[in-house]
Amino acid sequence: RRKVRIHHLRQWKERGQPWPMLTAYDMYTAKLFDDADIPVLLVGDSAANNVYGYDTSLPVTVDELLPLVRAVSGAATHALVVADLPFGSYQVSVEQAVATAVRFMKEGRAHAVKLEGGRRFAQHVEAITAAGVPVMGHIGFTPQSEHTLGGYRVQGRGEAGVSLLEDALALQDAGAFSVVMEMVPGEAARLVTRKLAIPTVGIGAGPECDAQVLVWQDMAGLRTGATPRFVKRYADVAGELTRAAQAFAEDVRGGQFPAEEHTFE
Ligand code: KIV
Ligand code: NA
Repeated sequence: RRKVRIHHLRQWKERGQPWPMLTAYDMYTAKLFDDADIPVLLVGDSAANNVYGYDTSLPVTVDELLPLVRAVSGAATHALVVADLPFGSYQVSVEQAVATAVRFMKEGRAHAVKLEGGRRFAQHVEAITAAGVPVMGHIGFTPQSEHTLGGYRVQGRGEAGVSLLEDALALQDAGAFSVVMEMVPGEAARLVTRKLAIPTVGIGAGPECDAQVLVWQDMAGLRTGATPRFVKRYADVAGELTRAAQAFAEDVRGGQFPAEEHTFE
């Protein structure tokens, strides 16, 4: 296997070969997913919810995300590691966006960055790209704008599909190497995917995107309770961990652990 590069993603699009992307926030998951042939790992600002336990992605900081990015980049040997720029770390100015992107590449050792927003962030994308940092866009439902968008709602329905396409084209023109589309109708996502030369990555955007991404704790069933419609659960990690912890507790309370083989002479 070779290191995954941006041109490979473009080749897969041209061949009509969909590819998977997962989030990762630490060394073990990065290693496991890399070995499982996941070509792109995203250290999402969803670490806010899935690592730090915040109720939205807004509070997470660059200083909280950087160590996670460094852990994932250090563990992945083949995957392309994308670092999400958190809320407030790029919106202030184009200069701030470039400075933050550089920190994620230099201190986080990421291979690319991702930021939310369409046309209004084209200049930011262009400047970061010009600095030598590949950028992944993110349009449709953008969680950092939850309070502007009025909660978790499907974007790009009807007339808004045109606006979605304009955003996607603006990001492509600005030099983005790929665009995430979150919670948009399958039909709109299909149109954008067909009009773009760069690959689209869907989450709740139907089957016709060039790639699909899920948060790993959703994919593997570590998060319990209600999950969005677009999630498919491939394992019951929450159940497994609970059973393991209960079995350990029982062993200790019952005097079965540690046994002779766990004890030094
Ligand atoms: O932060 C994140 O996990 C994301 C993906 C869902 C695309 O942005
Ligand atoms: Na994100």
